[in-house]
Amino acid sequence: MESSPIRQILVCQHRTCTKDGAANVLAKLQQQKIVNVSVEACGCMGLCGSGPIVLVLPDNIYYWRVTPKKAEAIIEMHLIGNEAIRSMMHPRLHPN
Ligand code: FES
Repeated sequence: MESSPIRQILVCQHRTCTKDGAANVLAKLQQQKIVNVSVEACGCMGLCGSGPIVLVLPDNIYYWRVTPKKAEAIIEMHLIGNEAIRSMMHPRLHPN
């Protein structure tokens, strides 16, 4: 079986992201049990007001306005399918 790439997922748990529901997003992402993927809370990433922010490393993809439902899509498509989701990327950091 092909091994999955090593990834670290950071989920901002600072003020505005938390106000916008980041705790539920963190909980959803922590439910996945993919080998070589770790999920951690982190501090402010300077993108306040467009959260909850989820950063996927080493891909360096910032997802914005993440909901638990979108977190599921990140798990399915990005972490398992290895395909980043363009429509959910932060437009300031990932301009078209
Ligand atoms: S509070 Fe989450 S990026 Fe600043």
